[in-house]
Amino acid sequence: MSFPNVRPRRLRTTAAMRRMVSETRLHPAELILPLFVKEGIAEPRAVESMPGVLQHSRESLRKAVAEAAQAGIGGVMLFGIPAEKDAVGSGGIDPNGILNVAIRDVVAEVGDSVVVMSDLCLDEFTSHGHCGLVRPDGSVDNDATLAAYARMAVAQAAAGVHVVGPSGMMDGQVAVVRRALDEAGYRDTTILAYAAKYASAFYGPFRDAVESSLDGDRRTYQQDPANLRESLREVALDVAEGADIVMVKPALAYLDVISAVRGMVDVPVAAYQVSGEYAMVEAAAANGWIDRDRVMMETLHSIRRAGAQLILTYWAVDAARQLRADF
Ligand code: PBG
Repeated sequence: MSFPNVRPRRLRTTAAMRRMVSETRLHPAELILPLFVKEGIAEPRAVESMPGVLQHSRESLRKAVAEAAQAGIGGVMLFGIPAEKDAVGSGGIDPNGILNVAIRDVVAEVGDSVVVMSDLCLDEFTSHGHCGLVRPDGSVDNDATLAAYARMAVAQAAAGVHVVGPSGMMDGQVAVVRRALDEAGYRDTTILAYAAKYASAFYGPFRDAVESSLDGDRRTYQQDPANLRESLREVALDVAEGADIVMVKPALAYLDVISAVRGMVDVPVAAYQVSGEYAMVEAAAANGWIDRDRVMMETLHSIRRAGAQLILTYWAVDAARQLRADF
């Protein structure tokens, strides 16, 4: 059968028909909101390159998470901005460091009603801005960093976090974190592994948001945007090391990677729609050049369609509200 008997347009005739045959449905429970908390501020501050995103105070963070839970989203991913940094990132391991304190605040506020996740990486806490410990020659020391991640993971679990998100791209990080958590008795603390994380220029606005001290780049540990097979290898290693969820990051420029990963593993696949993806759309919309809400939903559908079950997005609450209005 072919045209004129076959007419694909029949399935697009009405809104009800289109809704019925839709192949991809977003649900608020699959959206995760990244949030920033800054030590020592009394009022939240705007992040200039990410319109609508804030550096939270401890107090405003609690409120933001309560609101996010109310909107029905699946989880929050917390990032801390310390008042002081040092070469070894001690603020990330200190139980009184801003991120660990914020985890306690947030868990006290929302309990188990929403999944609380935390970034497990040193870069926000190091004076040089690298994700790991740096040798005198400037190179990042993989194995010394792993020991720091193990301590940081245990500190976050002790603060009550449900999921840790190792994002530093050190070899062996998932295995070391899993072992440290288990040995400390945190067998149920879940690992969302940043398994395929590219050395991407799309992280630019995030580095403003966390006041990154990085001078240089992360190309000796994050991946080359030209590579796909390398991601499959990274993902396979992380699953073998005990990752409960694997993530691809960024999202929109890496839909082929998301799709290939989805086809390869049987754990949930997440994707991180990163700061630059958000900022580009917000900036164009602010100029009246594109319809923000439609582009937001289109990008989220595309990421979902490619195979990401979970999406980290700065639009999580906005998108959840829009989805509920459409129900
Ligand atoms: C590292 C980390 C980064 C992001 C999340 N975790 C920055 C980096 O690797 O340079 C970027 C997220 C975004 O751009 O939204 N802790």
